Amino acid sequence: MARRAATRSAKSPAARHVTQIELELNGRVTRASVPDHWTLLEFLRKSAGLTGAKEGCNAGECGACTVLLDGVAVYACCVLAAETSGRRVMTIEGLGTPERLDPLQEAFLADDALQCGFCIPGQILAAKALLDAEPSPDRECVRRALSGNLCRCGCYVKIATAVLRAAAARREPER
Ligand code: FES
Ligand code: FES
Repeated sequence: MARRAATRSAKSPAARHVTQIELELNGRVTRASVPDHWTLLEFLRKSAGLTGAKEGCNAGECGACTVLLDGVAVYACCVLAAETSGRRVMTIEGLGTPERLDPLQEAFLADDALQCGFCIPGQILAAKALLDAEPSPDRECVRRALSGNLCRCGCYVKIATAVLRAAAARREPER
């Protein structure tokens, strides 16, 4: 019986619909086999062990799952993992280190720009995409760039302040 079950499993449709991917994930070449239907968010959380990108709505509405794909902020719940082969993905785990935080992470702490923290990885990566493209945004520009990232704790004012602080820090020459 066990053997028949194993044979059936090997021939199951699910077993056939797997794609091999190779991508640059937080600066490291990463190879994996992923079910074709998996989103990038599923791959990150279930297979790559990266839980910084959060599952909120799972429907492209809240921004909690935001990561950078080739430097562009995307909803990881709306991108298939199989589509990321040959591309660069950055999650919050790839930004800064505990010893040397990224200016955005420092600014969010300095401005106390969080409560529960659930939305913050997505907010920070959306902000990074903004500052990489526009080093000197004004508050309205920040507000618009982060409009796809909801914060149920209502920290929007402090988040925008933190992004402006980080922008100023990034413009300062390295000391
Ligand atoms: S979990 Fe992806 S947008 Fe909400
Ligand atoms: S800090 Fe709680 S959802 Fe934004």
